[in-house]
Amino acid sequence: MVENIIVTDARTGKKYEIPKEIVMPDNLTIIDSRTEKEYAIPITNGTIKAMDLRQIKVSDDDFGMMTYDPAFMNTASCKSKITFIDGDKGILRYRGIPIEQLAEKSSYLEVAYLVINGELPTKSQLDEWTFHITHHTMLHENTKKFMEGFVPDAHPMGMLVSTIGALSTFYPDSRDIFDAESRKLQTYRLIGKVPTIAAYCYRHRLGLPYVYPDNDLSYPGNFLSMMYKMTELKYKPNPVLEHALDILFILHADHEQNCSANVMRSTGSSHADPFVSMAGAAAALYGPLHGGANEEVLRMLKEIGSKDKVPEFIKRVKGGEVKLMGFGHRIYKNYDPRAKIIKETADRVFEVTGRSSLLDIALELEGVALEDEYFIKRKLYPNVDFYSGIIYQAMGFPTDAFTVLFAIARTAGWIAQWQEMLLDPEQKIARPRQVYLGSDERDYVPMEKR
Ligand code: ACO
Repeated sequence: MVENIIVTDARTGKKYEIPKEIVMPDNLTIIDSRTEKEYAIPITNGTIKAMDLRQIKVSDDDFGMMTYDPAFMNTASCKSKITFIDGDKGILRYRGIPIEQLAEKSSYLEVAYLVINGELPTKSQLDEWTFHITHHTMLHENTKKFMEGFVPDAHPMGMLVSTIGALSTFYPDSRDIFDAESRKLQTYRLIGKVPTIAAYCYRHRLGLPYVYPDNDLSYPGNFLSMMYKMTELKYKPNPVLEHALDILFILHADHEQNCSANVMRSTGSSHADPFVSMAGAAAALYGPLHGGANEEVLRMLKEIGSKDKVPEFIKRVKGGEVKLMGFGHRIYKNYDPRAKIIKETADRVFEVTGRSSLLDIALELEGVALEDEYFIKRKLYPNVDFYSGIIYQAMGFPTDAFTVLFAIARTAGWIAQWQEMLLDPEQKIARPRQVYLGSDERDYVPMEKR
């Protein structure tokens, strides 16, 4: 929030309202003990500019001070208006609206509009948005041929990453990244086509024919149809499962500057097109420390096998032998609000599908961990992935498709982050610095002398 102060011009007596930071900037005073020089570094929005440190030098030929921050533990790489998280209080808001309200009242497509465009759509805006996305769900027939080249047991994330990247070759107009209309078209294409690719990955695995999109169905309903339709003329999604999937998509739509969003921004900062940029982001999501965790949670629960084995497993976690997958978060150090909503959604899903035996193990694991000093001290709580896998499994999704579901939802967030980066005049090609600690200059040694 910009704080203004009233300034009076002594010459004219006129009063002016001016942002406080211009008149009385807050400064961070730094004294360099090497030179005893003092520097006043302006503070804006609780941050200092890393470039302002460059003036701190011991001599004229000194490069100047840098910060060292592996894994960006304390570095803001952008200013953003998309998603707000307060990790200590367990708050998540898209464009200011609490995730709890969106999960209860909105739909994924409406949330995607909000995340990308900044405001909730009017009825006609939402109709137009939905129409365009619905009419961009089909894939070029050659995409199918491309996908048929994968081995039958190819991991769906490998297929998804490659196929999203390949879309770049089908849509060369997507390179026109500074044209607003082109960005809009690529947005429709990405949100529309990613579920189709995801479903084809699944059908490819099973050797089943691909199912074309059904424009009469909702976004999640159409996805379920493309996944599960067999010989029936019209697939009718179960409304409870359709709604649960929509909620899961909403919860995963964006999460500010996480690993994959950072890749999306970073790749996009070289002005690569959105398809290849998103392929990179999806690749980052694939890793087990990020979106791949939901898959790992399920494997872990299956490995534990029964409730009575939980204490033994916790002992192995505390001994540093294994990680408790689905626990811990870089930002949330209280609880992950998405995990709470997912747990409630799970109850409704299990009424339709029957209760998963893995849920009992998960509940036991959570109960034991939350009372244990090891987890309390490190502020480790269940994250979004702890329960999502159990719901996905109950809905019939194979374990290695879980991250693909995450990618479908995150498409909206990646596009929003990419667009915000492109339109931000302060952004440039992402290019971090390094602290070089390797050899000094030395001569090449011929092979016979090594
Ligand atoms: N199980 C056991 N110990 C853990 C776990 C865990 N899941 N997570 C963190 N810790 C421990 C670490 O060993 C470390 O202990 P130490 O202080 O004794 O060395 C301490 O807690 C701090 O952990 P860091 O790894 O420093 O935390 P960081 O913020 O770097 O990592 C991360 C966050 C990657 C999510 C981590 O908690 C983790 O690996 N969790 C399991 C994987 C997972 O569920 N990922 C999904 C995240 S949500 C998402 O991406 C959608």
